[in-house]
Amino acid sequence: MLKTTQIAISILALLIWSTTALATSDNGRTQNASTGATNWPLKGGDSSGQHYSPLAQVNTESVEALSLAWATNIPIPDGVATTPIVIDGVAYLSGAYSIVLAVDAKTGEILWSYDPDVRKAFDEQASLSWLARANRGIAVADGKLFLTTVDCRLIALDAAKGAHLWTKQTCDTSAGYFITDSPYVGGGKVFLGNGGSESELKGRGYVSAYSSDSGELLWRFYIVPSDKAEENDTPALKMAAKTWSGDTLAKHGGGGHSWNEMTYDPASNLLFFGTSGAYPYRHAERSPLGGDNLFLSSIVAVNADTGAYEWHYQTVDKDSWDYNATMNIVLADLSFKDEQRETLLIAPKNGFHYTLDRHTGELLAVGKFAKTNWATHIDLETGKPVYDPAGEYWNIPKGEKALIWPNMWGSHGWNPMAFHPGTGLSYIPVVDAPAEMSGDGENEAIVLLSEVDGRPHSPGKLVAIDPVNGRVRWSVNRDLPFNGGLLTTAGNLVFQGTATGHFEALAADTGEQLWSVQTGSAINAASASYAIDGIQYVLIPIGAGGGLQFQYPEMHSSVASKGPTRLLAFSLQGDAQLVASPPVDLSLPDQPKLDTSADVVALGASLYKEACKYCHGNNAVARFGGSVPDLRYADATIHAQWDAIVLGGSKRANGMPLIELTAEQSAAVRNYVLSLSEEIRRSH
Ligand code: HEC
Repeated sequence: MLKTTQIAISILALLIWSTTALATSDNGRTQNASTGATNWPLKGGDSSGQHYSPLAQVNTESVEALSLAWATNIPIPDGVATTPIVIDGVAYLSGAYSIVLAVDAKTGEILWSYDPDVRKAFDEQASLSWLARANRGIAVADGKLFLTTVDCRLIALDAAKGAHLWTKQTCDTSAGYFITDSPYVGGGKVFLGNGGSESELKGRGYVSAYSSDSGELLWRFYIVPSDKAEENDTPALKMAAKTWSGDTLAKHGGGGHSWNEMTYDPASNLLFFGTSGAYPYRHAERSPLGGDNLFLSSIVAVNADTGAYEWHYQTVDKDSWDYNATMNIVLADLSFKDEQRETLLIAPKNGFHYTLDRHTGELLAVGKFAKTNWATHIDLETGKPVYDPAGEYWNIPKGEKALIWPNMWGSHGWNPMAFHPGTGLSYIPVVDAPAEMSGDGENEAIVLLSEVDGRPHSPGKLVAIDPVNGRVRWSVNRDLPFNGGLLTTAGNLVFQGTATGHFEALAADTGEQLWSVQTGSAINAASASYAIDGIQYVLIPIGAGGGLQFQYPEMHSSVASKGPTRLLAFSLQGDAQLVASPPVDLSLPDQPKLDTSADVVALGASLYKEACKYCHGNNAVARFGGSVPDLRYADATIHAQWDAIVLGGSKRANGMPLIELTAEQSAAVRNYVLSLSEEIRRSH
């Protein structure tokens, strides 16, 4: 159904440091007089969401001396998928199950932690167990820390001590809603959306604003219209209602969830958010008589005080591919032919990078950053995609297969892109891979290709694109497709962590790799940079997080990067040692012998795909060190308890749901898993 040593600082670095870094006080990265700290108060760095640090002590000259200052083991079973927040010497972050930690940003000491106990919700809804691992962070403002939980709670804590202040229930899990993203803060308000657009249940996406003080609900903006005309009581909903046909709104609610990333602009008092697609995916099925289905796959701007609609830009007006436009939104001031424009940048799933006027939503420039065959290009005049018949998977003849670019998980996911005001470039962590679709429907899988159109191809890339003319400036290949988000700095650097466990600095203008360390854990998060007592730190959570890793762990890590979840801080003065994680034990334990027919194993394989793959991974590959065990390595004791676990729900409290199978089917799945263990044994 639902479909993670030290070398002396160079003179140059010191110079840049004294003139640039300590003078920094713009854009909310204010310096705190008492601690001498330069902060990273929002996930995107500041209200521009650029993921840019104006600190330049670490720069292209000095970066070779960048060394570990401290490392802290993070007591969260699955990696961290978000960018930390740093305020006045304290780093805040969250991971799986919305567990929150406050860490001394100078020493790495854990100051407090808070566990909102989301596991109790898994009992009623197993899918939440999977989604709870995709938590993407927290927000901190006015002395409070705000977190969301997969079971739809918005919680405020006292940021100093982690003490609970208030909780609001903000959506309904029984109707298919959930929350995996952080809240966003600004102007005394907390903004949040929710997920659930892929649910067949009646989900209708909305964004809510709460008072950060009291938790009072201030307004709610519905992203798609109601099926009841009288509920469409705003000009925006009346406009949107005219763009739907058929009974999808009544049957499935219309989706359009804002499940990831928002940007609040204090200067214009606008809140910008992106929206997803809807169930059913196919436009012709969803809206049989046509219509653009507003506000699906759009960027929407609303007045932050009232929630009143200001403008929207729809990226895919006939979306049939689930090409969500919920990726992070960057605000940048750019020069177009002598004209300065205040723009909004976004790189949605669909493979195009958009430059919009942030006051009107007018499309100013667009560029392609990944291979696409659903659209040939975006028409700058109409602002609409020009569709390519090659992407019409619904026309694939029965028994045949076709590749659709990009895949439905997108060419850019929740790992944030960054912008550098010095180079004027956007930097995107790209997944350049198609989905294989068959004419029989259903069948879809990400395909990694090493060659496309007779040329070498890399499914993982870091791409720098010029938002004024849409041209790719440089592109660097990655060994695996799903890599971490980005940080740019005034030192002309781009930082990225990779799925192979490398943490790297590249020159922002050329893409040249200048520095790299192997951290031992796959990286999904994005880096933050801050300064304390005149020292610039670059902070990176390591350990693969997110959700897709459970379906495709082999695309999220290499054997060298199966280490634990840690928080690492690097500086030019660092002298800590990175303690290697123990090597992953790849030897199989004692297991019962496989003793059944090939037919039973085949039945087990198909049942596994239906009922287990979602959490335990494709072909039961989950060798990750996270909270979902690799069933191929289950020992004799687990095999003996198999039915108690699977049919009896004995591990329900830990997120292993009770599965409705017959004893015979359960045995078939067990034997399929044993056949995979046998394969490993044979290959050794
Ligand atoms: C919603 C996610 C989810 C689904 C779906 C799921 N599992 Fe699990 N499974 C888990 C988690 C999480 C654990 C770890 C529980 C723990 O830590 O005690 C687990 C543990 C197990 C274990 C114990 C393994 C060990 O080494 O401790 C077995 C056996 C198992 N699952 C079998 C299955 C089978 C068979 C299916 C499909 C029929 C399935 N699971 C579907 C999440 C899931």
